[in-house]
Amino acid sequence: MSQEQWTEVDRYITEHMVALDAALDAALEASAQAGLPAINVAPNQGKLLMLLARMHGAKRILEVGTLGGYSTLWLARALPPEGRIITLEAVPKHAEVARENIARAGLSGVVEVRLGNAVDTLAQLEKEGQAPFDLTFIDADKVRTAEYFAWALKLSRKGSVILTDNVVRKGGIVDADSTDANIQGMRRFYEAVAAEPRVSATAVQTVGSKGYDGFSLALVTGDPK
Ligand code: SAH
Ligand code: DHB
Ligand code: MG
Repeated sequence: MSQEQWTEVDRYITEHMVALDAALDAALEASAQAGLPAINVAPNQGKLLMLLARMHGAKRILEVGTLGGYSTLWLARALPPEGRIITLEAVPKHAEVARENIARAGLSGVVEVRLGNAVDTLAQLEKEGQAPFDLTFIDADKVRTAEYFAWALKLSRKGSVILTDNVVRKGGIVDADSTDANIQGMRRFYEAVAAEPRVSATAVQTVGSKGYDGFSLALVTGDPK
């Protein structure tokens, strides 16, 4: 099994199941033009995010880690007319490209891109009374994923969903002695989930055009207050 094969199968899946969307394609194109890294979710993963959000009937969505807004746009596609998404991004250039991509998609009224370190902007959201969010997608720096998970839970209600990207890292997640801060950060996320009685969670390994990784899905079953 090779990366080449995973990419080809992703292409086949996408060709048959993920309709072309000019705004989403333009967002990837503009992100690449601006020199952003291609670490966005793949199109078929983006559609999974959209379907999960729609199945859940999410009206208020929180995203931690915007990049060029590709996953943001997929999540926004799931929203009803009165829905809103707030997405948090630390790098000004990324936030700028995301805002342009969102404007081009005609979704500036639906999506708010907040510039700043998520550690600060999450605390700000709480102070403003923006919670609860129906669904949170955590996809920023991997070192602080456990911290973002704690915030996501705090900003949830019973029944909210917390999705977390990149929880497998080419299998590196099982290396307890890893010197990679991202791996150690992600291991703290698993420990936090294991110790958290208010969520029911799982994780799934994935291969595809973005390599070997995985995502986690957690349902808030207890009262986060
Ligand atoms: N969700 C995007 C990809 C996000 S890549 C998609 O799938 O399309 C991770 C992003 O998180 C990068 O843009 C990075 O700048 C941002 N990031 C990293 N650390 C952060 C922090 N502390 N606060 C907010 N954003 C952060
Ligand atoms: C990286 C970040 C991501 O969110 C992702 O999906 C893949 C890779 C990274 O930082 O390398
Ligand atoms: Mg990711």
